[in-house]
Amino acid sequence: MTTTLVIGLQWGDEGKGKIVDALTKDSSVVCRFQGGHNAGHTIKVDGESHVLHLVPSGIINPKSKCLIGNGVVISPQALEEEIQMLNNAGISVENRLFISAKCPLILPTHVAIDQARDKQENIGTTGRGIGPAYEDKVGRRSIKFSDLLDLMSIKEKLFNILDFHNKVLTKLLNAEELDPQIIFTDLKKFQYLAKSYSCNTNELVEDFYKNGDDIIFEGAQGSMLDIDHGTYPFVTSSNTTAGGVSSGLGIGPKFIDNILGISKAYTTRVGEGPFPTELFDSTAEEISRIGNEFGATTGRPRRCGWLDLKALREVIFINSVTTLCITKLDVLDNLETINACIDYDQSTPVYKSFTGWQSSTVNCNKFSDLPKCAQEYILYIEDFLGVPVNIISVGPSRNQTIYR
Ligand code: IMP
Repeated sequence: MTTTLVIGLQWGDEGKGKIVDALTKDSSVVCRFQGGHNAGHTIKVDGESHVLHLVPSGIINPKSKCLIGNGVVISPQALEEEIQMLNNAGISVENRLFISAKCPLILPTHVAIDQARDKQENIGTTGRGIGPAYEDKVGRRSIKFSDLLDLMSIKEKLFNILDFHNKVLTKLLNAEELDPQIIFTDLKKFQYLAKSYSCNTNELVEDFYKNGDDIIFEGAQGSMLDIDHGTYPFVTSSNTTAGGVSSGLGIGPKFIDNILGISKAYTTRVGEGPFPTELFDSTAEEISRIGNEFGATTGRPRRCGWLDLKALREVIFINSVTTLCITKLDVLDNLETINACIDYDQSTPVYKSFTGWQSSTVNCNKFSDLPKCAQEYILYIEDFLGVPVNIISVGPSRNQTIYR
């Protein structure tokens, strides 16, 4: 039995979904603990791509179980759509998906506030209502997932919250108010979701742990988007770093055996905010094209740049990463020279240059199959960061994964 936390070390989109899927065995339990449907986890199996936003990536393996912990914010509509998408793909979630009764709901007014406010603040959010939903959680006024079971009992509370949201929309954000009665009536349609999936995930996690199941904790977004440790204010609204799993799922730190940090072989970022190693030249275009660097949730083009080892070293400590996975190494296959930031002079990156391998890595199965220059790049990363690189991904498919 092992418990493994899979955490993104950059600004999200590191390829966590593929790695979680690759690590998921039949007996595995896969748990989400933060974020919401702002995430986009793409998994390619037998030539077919599945994009998950809310449901843990373990759902693709028919024998694994999936938990959504209390730290996740839930849009009932997004949940319904994702379950339908999975059903249409022949993947059943029945008796496999368990959602914490304590998850705060994302209401339509949260989405409206998020979108109206982003026009003023220009963070470049996904516009899914994530930030405003977390604000209500911390403000102690959230409607919880289990509240869907008995909406009449919280009707007054809901209308008070919606009234507050509508004041924010009309008086502060110059936006249209939403009709509380319509929101209330629509929420009733989602009662079945709570009946089917709402439960005490704290108890379940403890049971699975004591039963000796393999448990994977699937982080969403990345460490540099963490509300406390990221590039504030250009961050998401949850703790994307390792500490988030204890608060967002209810499992103590000592029960986490491995912390697998995932980083691309380069860096990308969606939305606004600092990005010291960003490229604006033809190399950025090539990385974007070959790496298909477009947001899985919003379709926005991702900004591309060199690997930032200096920043990675910091987040490796914050997360206490025990092993590393480098994804999308193949995207660099054609480059003549590859740079990695190893320091900053004021705020300008200091680069170490590597000779590109200029040959394909997509069919490499073992570390020794990789071209010598690619091996040197990986070995330098591991040496600089002081953590072993145990997994290397050289393409989107399950079998394009090298284990060392
Ligand atoms: P929010 O999470 O929608 O509030 O967006 C806040 C910031 O986090 C924006 O820069 C988004 O682009 C970024 N973000 C949120 N989720 C993801 C993700 O799954 N991948 C990459 N960036 C994300």
